[in-house]
Amino acid sequence: MSDAEFLKRKAAARALELVRSGMKLGLGTGSTAKHFVELLAERVQEGLEVVGVPTSEQTRALAESLGVPLATLDEQPVLDLCIDGADEVGPDFVLIKGGGGALLREKIVATAAAQMVVIADASKHVQQLGKFPLPIEVVDFGVAAIRRGIDRAARASGCHGLLTLRRRADGHVFVTDQGHLILDAAYGVIPDPGALAARLAEVPGVVEHGLFIGLASRVILAGASGVTVLDRP
Ligand code: A5P
Repeated sequence: MSDAEFLKRKAAARALELVRSGMKLGLGTGSTAKHFVELLAERVQEGLEVVGVPTSEQTRALAESLGVPLATLDEQPVLDLCIDGADEVGPDFVLIKGGGGALLREKIVATAAAQMVVIADASKHVQQLGKFPLPIEVVDFGVAAIRRGIDRAARASGCHGLLTLRRRADGHVFVTDQGHLILDAAYGVIPDPGALAARLAEVPGVVEHGLFIGLASRVILAGASGVTVLDRP
């Protein structure tokens, strides 16, 4: 296991300590969340009783293959805890998520949970958001017009940068679990995430964006010097 993967697993292991029998859990997406699902599965084999609601088909397949009991969010609309990774963790626990393309379901699941806990290696903790391109999920209609709307929203929020239509490694256009497209916005710096989020939400055709504001209440960061647990005041 590489150093980075080892740190992600350590953060996931610390989050597992929060899990109690009987809990309904939101299961995140991405390489860090994968570690959590694997560790959770080990506890389930030992008798822990939980129900997981996955945030993506990828996570659903993994959890299912490892024997973690699952439900849909329709079946379990109220969750105790959601554990997920992040691409950036900024001031006030504002996150950029969606590097794995699951931002829409991730935001819905996190909102349904009493608590969202982010697990990450310490490199994800940043003083200013925006170095990681912001994923913006859009419908597959009038994408050129939607882009113009996003550009206007971004400029009005002090953001400037190119939008890139996300593609898979094989060159095909990336399509989300909900059948939408993703535009990755390379702003470099997002000076006012709240303003950008509000303006993006007003652009017709934008389904969701990867700014998670006011959702995470705890962040577990694993770095070379150990695991740090931060709670939102
Ligand atoms: C998935 O859509 C994302 O929001 C992930 O949570 C995020 O990209 C973090 O992924 P890693 O844990 O792989 O860095």
